[in-house]
Amino acid sequence: MISEQQIDLAIEKLFGELTFTATPAGLYDPLRYMIEIGGKRIRPRLCILAYSLFKDSLTEDILRPAAALEVFHSFTLIHDDIMDNAPVRRGVPTVWKKWGENQAILSGDSMCIESYRLLSGCPAEALPKVLKLFSDTAAQVCDGQQYDMEFEERDSVEMDEYMMMIGLKTAVLIACAAKMGALVAGASASDADLLYRYGYSLGLAFQVADDYLDTFGDQSVFGKAIGGDIVNNKKSWLLTRAYADPALRERLDAALLMSIDTEEAQRLKIETVRNIYMEAGVGEAAKAEIIRLHNEALEYAAALNIDAEGHSKLEHYAKSLLGRAK
Ligand code: IPE
Ligand code: IPE
Ligand code: MG
Ligand code: MG
Ligand code: MG
Repeated sequence: MISEQQIDLAIEKLFGELTFTATPAGLYDPLRYMIEIGGKRIRPRLCILAYSLFKDSLTEDILRPAAALEVFHSFTLIHDDIMDNAPVRRGVPTVWKKWGENQAILSGDSMCIESYRLLSGCPAEALPKVLKLFSDTAAQVCDGQQYDMEFEERDSVEMDEYMMMIGLKTAVLIACAAKMGALVAGASASDADLLYRYGYSLGLAFQVADDYLDTFGDQSVFGKAIGGDIVNNKKSWLLTRAYADPALRERLDAALLMSIDTEEAQRLKIETVRNIYMEAGVGEAAKAEIIRLHNEALEYAAALNIDAEGHSKLEHYAKSLLGRAK
């Protein structure tokens, strides 16, 4: 069976060798930048891992679709950072900060197109299914991003609305990565579906963890500005959970109205909301929710018709996301 180490090496090589058109440089430099500054590469890793449960050798068949997932993900981040007014990602300035918003919009578009070009290199037998899965997923990510923005304008959202929103903006792409690996490998429909569910639950856990780290993380490790969700009145897991407690509502309403005009004002708003979360134990509750979703993912994995080594790889992958600090 393909080892986890082989997968890591293949990913390193894949993104080390990925090239984009050179000119016009203004358009393609941001693409190169996004790939070079790296990231955790969790989606291509999961895609190749899922493939490895059914196939014994790593070929271009799976590497191109895996690269497509990462390039698509990076495209969503370029646009997401404009929408979220985010200045830093992966410890460096975001594309719009470095090149301006118009450039970030167009370079993002180009990157999305590039992801489809990579996907077209998937084996012909799997292409119709893979293309449909990828396109459905991409459309869902846009739906999720729209809900995310609309929720910013609302006073509050219910927990089930929040889960629906993160399911769309984040979980479907991770689920797609897992299922795509299975489809390219020619796995059974039921195994492909279980891998989708595994990825989806892990994806939900991943976004709850992202929300947790946005408030309680260490910027030098997380690579993103801490407190951005609070400044933007994002309906994060933390805020949604805190708001569900009637005793906290009045204070949260007041905090959400606080000024963000200066850096000092932003700092004060972040501190005020964080203090409410700490008093109410919301961070601890988020950690419990992450574990619950992680266990849900493992239940789907356990139902897969694969050997013990495969099961342990899926457990190991899930564990690598749990307790992350970046
Ligand atoms: C960030 O994704 C966006 C979310 C879905 C939370 P990652 O945390 O996978 O970002 P990188 O690619 O590692 O930077
Ligand atoms: C990201 O959600 C979802 C997508 C990019 C589709 P966030 O806005 O929470 O991601 P970060 O925190 O900026 O990475
Ligand atoms: Mg966002
Ligand atoms: Mg964002
Ligand atoms: Mg976030």
